[in-house]
Amino acid sequence: MKKNNEALRKPAELLFKKELTALIKTDQYPKPPNWRLSPKKVVDFIMGTELEDGTKISPKYFGQRSLIEIAVATLATDRALLLTGIPGTAKTWVSENLAAAISGSSRLLVQGTAGTHEEQLLYGWNYPILLAKGPVPEALVPSPIMRGMETGSIVRIEELTRMPFEIQDALITLLSEKSMPIPELDEESNAISGFNIIATANDRDKGIHEMSSALKRRFNTVVLPLPATIEMELEIVRSRIAPDLMAQRDKKADKSSIEEIKRVITIFKELRDGKTMDGKLSLKRPASTLSTAEIIGLVNNALAMAVYFGKRKIDGELLARNLKNTIVKNHDTDLIPWNEYVEMVMKKREEYDHFYQAVSSLK
Ligand SMILES: Nc1ncnc2c1ncn2[C@@H]1O[C@H](COP(=O)(O)OP(=O)(O)O)[C@@H](O)[C@H]1O
Ligand SMILES: [Mg+2]
Repeated sequence: MKKNNEALRKPAELLFKKELTALIKTDQYPKPPNWRLSPKKVVDFIMGTELEDGTKISPKYFGQRSLIEIAVATLATDRALLLTGIPGTAKTWVSENLAAAISGSSRLLVQGTAGTHEEQLLYGWNYPILLAKGPVPEALVPSPIMRGMETGSIVRIEELTRMPFEIQDALITLLSEKSMPIPELDEESNAISGFNIIATANDRDKGIHEMSSALKRRFNTVVLPLPATIEMELEIVRSRIAPDLMAQRDKKADKSSIEEIKRVITIFKELRDGKTMDGKLSLKRPASTLSTAEIIGLVNNALAMAVYFGKRKIDGELLARNLKNTIVKNHDTDLIPWNEYVEMVMKKREEYDHFYQAVSSLK
């Protein structure tokens, strides 16, 4: 297996190892049992700050501090945390960083899909051992949830509502009793303090199942919203530009690049809101998701093109050339709103002339 320092994408606990070590060293606040940091320092890790010893803690989440406070406080209670919102609002990113800060690992993870089995939530069996020796403890294969219960760690469930209803409900007993019966061994696995679950769920997407009200009650739900302003969204995008590409860019162009990225964010915001910024014109909305994550992808793509094939700077033309394929994901629902936007809005704004030229040249 590859060593983690060569991994293409490092888990949060490695990516921010220095920050977490510094936070642990300076933390003087009370910690819930088996937490590596106090709730206050977990929030500082997510929101960013500067420590007394001068260590800078980078902001991970851009948005309301109070949402993160509610999330962290929930994890210290016996209710689990459910992060919902439209796709691309940092649910996965926040849950990964919370688990890294609280338990030192974000890797106890169950990915919810239509094909998730109860075994992946509870436990399975090593069949050769089971056949040879019968249901003995060494034949049992614990799920990430069982391991989290036994070590007092945070476990993540991604895309909870992609799992069928009946499978989701296997969590109910576990969340209310904090124990998992293993009838085959006539035993149960009991959670120790520090165990909790962070689930994420998209509230608008294909292939989503409802949650039962019994299960919903076991969770405290925090809705992560889209960024409130263009400036806030710009900050998020800037924080997520690929560092290796950033290192190769022509820095002299930064000021104009930022203006160009703002134009892209404006286009996304207007299409999302279904109206122009001045509110004067109503617009058709594409059905596909237009989240910050799409903008981050678009900007990174434009920067990669600039670094490898172009002038090493993000310019409007490169961004505009990537716009249509980012916004129009489904021809039936997105093409008409996109064409309307190009002709009714983009064409008429002087400062978007180079965007319009680039977009028209692709038609
Ligand atoms: N408010 C925000 N603060 C920080 N990053 C954000 C924010 N909104 C979106 N992002 C970024 O968008 C990307 C996608 O987020 P992700 O966690 O995968 O979304 P979700 O799980 O909600 O679909 C991540 O790189 C994340 O950093
Ligand atoms: Mg996600």
